[in-house]
Amino acid sequence: MAHYLRVCFSIFFTTVTGAALEKCPTSCQCDWDTHSMTCSGSNMMPRFPLSTQEVYISNDNTLGYLEKHSFYNLPRVRHIIKTLAFIDCEAFKNLPNLKYLGIINTGIRTFPELQHIHSFQDDFVLEIVENALVKVMPANALSGISESLIVMLHSNGLREIQRFAFNGSCLEEVYLQRNMYMDQIDKFAFHGVNCGPTHIDISETKVQSLPSIGMEAIEKLQAKNTWTLKVLPPLRTFIHLQHAELTYPSHCCGLKMLRRWKGPSEMAICNLSKSTLTRPRDSSSSQLESYDSDDLQSARMSNVPVCSDVDCENKALFHVEFPTENPSEGFNFALCNSVGADTELVCYPVPDPFNPCEDVISQNFLRPLLWVVSLLALSANLLVMLTLLTSQQKLTVTRFLMGQLAFADFCMGAYLLLIASVDIYTQSHYYHYAMVWQNGAGCSLAGTLSVFACELSVYTLTLISIQRWYAIFNAMRLDNKMRLRHAVVLMIIGWALCGTVALLPVVGVSSYQKVSVCLPMDTGSTAARFYVVIVLMMNVTSFLVVCLCYLHIYCMVHNPQHQSSKYDTGMAKRMAILIFTNFLCLVPICFYGLSAALHQPLITVTDSKVLLVLFYPLNSCSHPFFYAILTKDFHQDILMLLNRMGLCQKQAHLYRSQLLYLGNIILSVSPAPNQQRSMSQSHSLVRS
Ligand SMILES: *[C@@H]1O[C@H](CO)[C@@H](O)[C@H](O)[C@H]1NC(C)=O
Ligand SMILES: *[C@@H]1O[C@H](CO)[C@@H](O)[C@H](O)[C@H]1NC(C)=O
Repeated sequence: MAHYLRVCFSIFFTTVTGAALEKCPTSCQCDWDTHSMTCSGSNMMPRFPLSTQEVYISNDNTLGYLEKHSFYNLPRVRHIIKTLAFIDCEAFKNLPNLKYLGIINTGIRTFPELQHIHSFQDDFVLEIVENALVKVMPANALSGISESLIVMLHSNGLREIQRFAFNGSCLEEVYLQRNMYMDQIDKFAFHGVNCGPTHIDISETKVQSLPSIGMEAIEKLQAKNTWTLKVLPPLRTFIHLQHAELTYPSHCCGLKMLRRWKGPSEMAICNLSKSTLTRPRDSSSSQLESYDSDDLQSARMSNVPVCSDVDCENKALFHVEFPTENPSEGFNFALCNSVGADTELVCYPVPDPFNPCEDVISQNFLRPLLWVVSLLALSANLLVMLTLLTSQQKLTVTRFLMGQLAFADFCMGAYLLLIASVDIYTQSHYYHYAMVWQNGAGCSLAGTLSVFACELSVYTLTLISIQRWYAIFNAMRLDNKMRLRHAVVLMIIGWALCGTVALLPVVGVSSYQKVSVCLPMDTGSTAARFYVVIVLMMNVTSFLVVCLCYLHIYCMVHNPQHQSSKYDTGMAKRMAILIFTNFLCLVPICFYGLSAALHQPLITVTDSKVLLVLFYPLNSCSHPFFYAILTKDFHQDILMLLNRMGLCQKQAHLYRSQLLYLGNIILSVSPAPNQQRSMSQSHSLVRS
């Protein structure tokens, strides 16, 4: 019987019997045919007929507030919708048949007091929406309303849900979405609920964490576009979850794992409990108990071999912990009914190819390798830098570039160490940290470091090759050498260039947040694709330059008109190795770059991590050895350093005289790059 008349406020009522109605209140017009009453111009509530069933109070200025006992003694009211500015704390009192209360688009500032409603209706619908000034939901806000509640609190100005807010209520569905400023749901907000909630929606809020208490009954969880919710509570919390619509795919990884793992282990326990239940109860209860307990123990044991592989260990995170010696205690046997393939958890958004459900480093054999590689790169390059810095020899172009190269490779080592640490820290539950890590400053730092290191290393390497080639090309003209100031200027340009390239993803061109290893693989926009392709081209170009330089050097040195063929083979070998490692290093960059540019991983991200660990840092590990540690030059520096520290004085002396001798020989031979260096060093040796 829905008759709508909304002048100021209309009261709809029905008479159940033909009993005589009360007389029409003053300032109201009653239409006895449609059983409706329209009142206007009144600044207080009229006395309602006893048989009133629905009350609609529309937006109007004359009725400014609902005073005490507004709906007093109206046992049949089932439906109240109101839009007002003020509600007295006892406005709603003793409304046993109320089934729906809507407080919509009002100017109220505090959460209305609803504790005295005491409705006997099931599935009471409470709709408090679009009240921009309601900021806080206090404790016990919903207690005493009804036996079971559907709570719609969306689109309010709620900022905070205080502890015990839902205390004493029996919840079914709780809608909290589109409270744009809501950032806090207290840990104990759902503490003390008599039952439920089974469905929670916190989409489009700023909630940062969900309470873990009182979530056991949840079957459906919605948190779409809740970008701040980066961490879910422990997944054990959601034992009955069947449907989840979340913001981040990684959370679905965790939730899906939970369900998959629970299958077999629970099944074993449930099977046992079933079989003990159906067993004829001829044995005494104590015997049965001990049998039961033993069997469950062994069931747990028998799970161990099943869980020997890595995947399963990961899932053991959600192991249903048995708190006591007796494993059946504390196990929720209600779960037995919900186990089965048909209750597979539905979760959105599903993980994409760039973010599969896996750890940062998913293959176990890569983990130790990553540590070895990163520590090697760090220590070797640190050694080179320290030696160069403490060396008392003259700073030549070569030594300067060596130092730059070592620094770049050191940064790469630092990046790898960072990734390795994050991997160890988040091992087997990365999905839990994925969004915190990938959207955080740490990942930006790692990505910047990685790209900067890689590009600076490539740039410096190219410079070194060009410098060597130039030195040999102009070997006969000593005045035509690359000078230190040229090198410094070129390196400053290099730093600026690499810094820009590394920082672009931070400021929005592409992004480091796409993958767990923090490389710029986001190619959503044209600018980002352009960026990735440019970086790729830079790397390929410099690789080609390096190749050409070394090939030309080789041809020049190999030329019989050049005098120094005895250094040929060694040099050729070294060049070949350098070019080869360079090429290997380029492979993952190409793979990453091309997959990003083509929007499709060429190989799975999981596999590409092998490239990342094994090939990408290859240069960083090999450069310090090829360019410094394995050279005579460096040995001499080290000896001098030790000598200064008072160690190995005899060897140093010996070495020094050897070098002097060698230097004298070399002086008379044509200057190949190494020889040139030894030459200048022997000069400085002579001087020292
Ligand atoms: C929770 O509600 C119960 C009654 O339902 C009450 O006795 C208790 O004091 C409330 N707890 C808090 C902390 O308000
Ligand atoms: C549980 O029992 C069912 C049949 O009742 C069987 O198919 C299943 O393999 C059993 N599971 C375990 C883990 O023992």
